[in-house]
Amino acid sequence: MFFPKKKQAEPRPVPDHIAIIMDGNGRWAKKRSLPRTAGHAAGAETFRRIATYCKDIGVKYLTVYAFSTENWKRPKEEVDAIMRLLDKYLREAIGQMERDRVKMKFFGDVSVLSEELRALIARTDEISTHFEGCQVNVCVNYGGRDEIMRAARGWAEDGFAGGEEGFSSKLYSSGIPDPDLIIRPGGEKRLSNFLLWQAAYAELYFTDMLWPDFTTADLDAAIDEFDRRTRRFGGI
Ligand code: FPP
Repeated sequence: MFFPKKKQAEPRPVPDHIAIIMDGNGRWAKKRSLPRTAGHAAGAETFRRIATYCKDIGVKYLTVYAFSTENWKRPKEEVDAIMRLLDKYLREAIGQMERDRVKMKFFGDVSVLSEELRALIARTDEISTHFEGCQVNVCVNYGGRDEIMRAARGWAEDGFAGGEEGFSSKLYSSGIPDPDLIIRPGGEKRLSNFLLWQAAYAELYFTDMLWPDFTTADLDAAIDEFDRRTRRFGGI
């Protein structure tokens, strides 16, 4: 009997670099009559699940917006709660990064963070130098304009050497390819000072879903949409 050879499913192209604006934590909590901080705790769990999934499907870089230069305007207890979540996440991650092959890098001015957080960040930086793996970039006290201003100052100190590449090398993202796909849940359709330089040719994907509700299936839907788009980078 002849059995036609089963056609193998084509492997789905996955973006090398996905960036996410984790928006909607506060509204998620409000809908449940919970404090906003509960929304951030749920958002941190979503981040953990999505980061693991990104690594599993072969995404090389994941960049997330955890705390912007403008988020200091929020009530102190909310700021403190986000910092505590970051502290908790880093303590847990430190023991598992090498085993899970997840590297970490921080974008933003972390010099203003607590001594404990800075020590944890230094430790994750150090561990990340020992192996290759999926790199998670966490943006904390980050703003796209602030990053561009800092880079401009650094580039000026170098006598504006190296053109666009020389400038890019002064950004927090130095050496990392630009994001292919930027995802923003939460219903707003803007970048909110996120990766302003690096977003030049990124595909943008917006969804009304609130970040704590975002699942791996939702990430798959965003990647499917990305795969259907034609990227021309200014060509035809
Ligand atoms: C935006 O939602 C979210 C933030 C400003 C904080 C994001 C922080 C986390 C997910 C937790 C810590 C991160 C890590 C990496 C462990 P919003 O509060 O503006 O939501 P809203 O628009 O519904 O009010």
